[in-house]
Amino acid sequence: MEIDLSKITLRPFKLEDADDFLSFAGDEQVTRHLRWKTLTSKEEALTHIKDVCIPHPWRRSICIEDRSIGFVSIFPFSGDDRCSANFGFGVAVKYWGHGVATKAVKMAASQFFVDFPGVVRLEAFVDVDNKASQRIVEKAGFQKEGMLRKYAHLKGKLRDLDSMHKTRERATGSKKKAWRKKRKYELGRQPANTKSAQVVKLQDCKENSWGSEAVTRENPYS
Ligand SMILES: CC(C)(COP(=O)(O)OP(=O)(O)OC[C@H]1O[C@@H](n2cnc3c(N)ncnc32)[C@H](O)[C@@H]1OP(=O)(O)O)[C@@H](O)C(=O)NCCC(=O)NCCS
Repeated sequence: MEIDLSKITLRPFKLEDADDFLSFAGDEQVTRHLRWKTLTSKEEALTHIKDVCIPHPWRRSICIEDRSIGFVSIFPFSGDDRCSANFGFGVAVKYWGHGVATKAVKMAASQFFVDFPGVVRLEAFVDVDNKASQRIVEKAGFQKEGMLRKYAHLKGKLRDLDSMHKTRERATGSKKKAWRKKRKYELGRQPANTKSAQVVKLQDCKENSWGSEAVTRENPYS
């Protein structure tokens, strides 16, 4: 099956997606690495779309010709964590291996940074055995920052997760100023425009302490 990746769109879920949604949210191959309960009926799919997908701050249906073939969710945290958001995604099995998730994750990250200007960091916690997802987020510009040992129960098993992140600077493509190559006569003397570091302004991250009561990491994974 050939897939024209330029036809992939992201849009909010609607109740009419129930059958398509069930085709992947009801498939254990897709839900295996997600915290979702595998859905078993169209009624459950409708309830999930109505109660979880539609009210979600930023969950999009991955579509081809407006048919839902997957999802991408980005949950922005609040309080002192409002500079960060958590990423999740999944694609129906019959579309695996064609670059769909990579394309959708890239599109979602770019759009999310526009929609949530206060967020400067996206994070994805990926099961250490979920090599495809690690590869996808890497290709979308995420970097691994470490392993979270015994971090969460996934389908009843205590799992180690790789912590991957992407910052706004990497997503929006802003680059550090390239230093001009020194001319021969400048070598040995202080260049005129020396700046030791770029000042990064994290307007919304004035206080990063953990354990603050303002930290609310509720339900990013549903
Ligand atoms: C993970 C998932 C979204 C992949 O979707 P997809 O559309 O097939 O992904 P893509 O085609 O864009 O990219 C897959 C990449 O992973 C690579 N990959 C797949 N299986 C792999 C494996 N076992 N080891 C290493 N790399 C692997 C592919 O080669 C490809 O990389 P490449 O383009 O450099 O060759 C899909 O498998 C899925 O829905 N899984 C279940 C849900 C899930 O795990 N979600 C993520 C939770 S954080």
